[in-house]
Amino acid sequence: MSTPRKDKVTIPGIRARKCLGARASGPHVKDDGTRASGPQQWKETPAGSHDSSVANPDRIVALTVYDHPSARILDEAGVDILLVGDSVGNVVLGLESTLPVTLQVMLHHTAAVTRAHPRALVVADMPFLSYHTGPAEAVRNAGRFIQEAGAEAVKVEGGVRRAEIIRAMVDADIPVMGHIGLTPQSVNALGGYRVQGRDDDAVDRLLEDACAVEEAGAFSLVLEAIPAAVGSLITRLVGIPTIGIGAGPDCDGQILVSHDLFGLSAGSPPRFVRRYADLAETMREAVRRYAADVRAGAFPSERESYATPPELAQRLAAHPGRIRQS
Ligand code: KIV
Repeated sequence: MSTPRKDKVTIPGIRARKCLGARASGPHVKDDGTRASGPQQWKETPAGSHDSSVANPDRIVALTVYDHPSARILDEAGVDILLVGDSVGNVVLGLESTLPVTLQVMLHHTAAVTRAHPRALVVADMPFLSYHTGPAEAVRNAGRFIQEAGAEAVKVEGGVRRAEIIRAMVDADIPVMGHIGLTPQSVNALGGYRVQGRDDDAVDRLLEDACAVEEAGAFSLVLEAIPAAVGSLITRLVGIPTIGIGAGPDCDGQILVSHDLFGLSAGSPPRFVRRYADLAETMREAVRRYAADVRAGAFPSERESYATPPELAQRLAAHPGRIRQS
């Protein structure tokens, strides 16, 4: 089985190469062995995704999600991929980074999401140190996401250095999504949350990483925090779909942390975030109104209380208001 090759990409100053697409497997490969053109063919078609008035109906729409009700809502809204991200650490658990997020935490949140039985593809993020120590442990841990938590694929961070591990997981029939560029689990090695791929050498390394991930058999590749032109170049280079987060408009799909999109994250969001709602203010306003009603005695009303049978009401009215001694 081969992955269609992209045209050779040549950029002055950047070492030209193209990926081999050595082994294609995973949800983007259709039953007849040909490559699906978009995630609509990975699972059922989301409502409206083939609307001819839409410029790029095959663009992959991905979001992070960490809990059951949100999974249901995002799925109903037509998201293609639900990523149970280890960003749960920052955005839900109040941690400073993703590094303290454990396998147990990720299994717990992944299971909550898959219990919504979403139509979207559920990808579980493998946390720090759950796959770094070697292929055997990586396969065992990835298998837990599939077997215990109901995920359909896993995501791992890193390129060339993770290729052997990705290959081992793919060999165990576990679909793998790659993730290169700004990889938050490497924050200490990278010296902070910085945009990656800003000089020729860094771009070369990103190209090597992208090819290594594809050649290892990953079915898609997240590109995080890289210049738009580099996102575009990698998208032309690899045969698997790229999913950008701060990687410009030319990727095959986009992903955001859902709490950023909803306006639920604290602090100022990264440049690549677009807020589509201010749910934090919606929630604050709802709580202010609830508090005012409780303090005014306006909540609960009769409609929100259980009725008392009339005879019981009479006896209760005559009750001394203390427990009777028998
Ligand atoms: O954990 C996460 O939210 C992610 C996305 C940023 C891709 O890995």
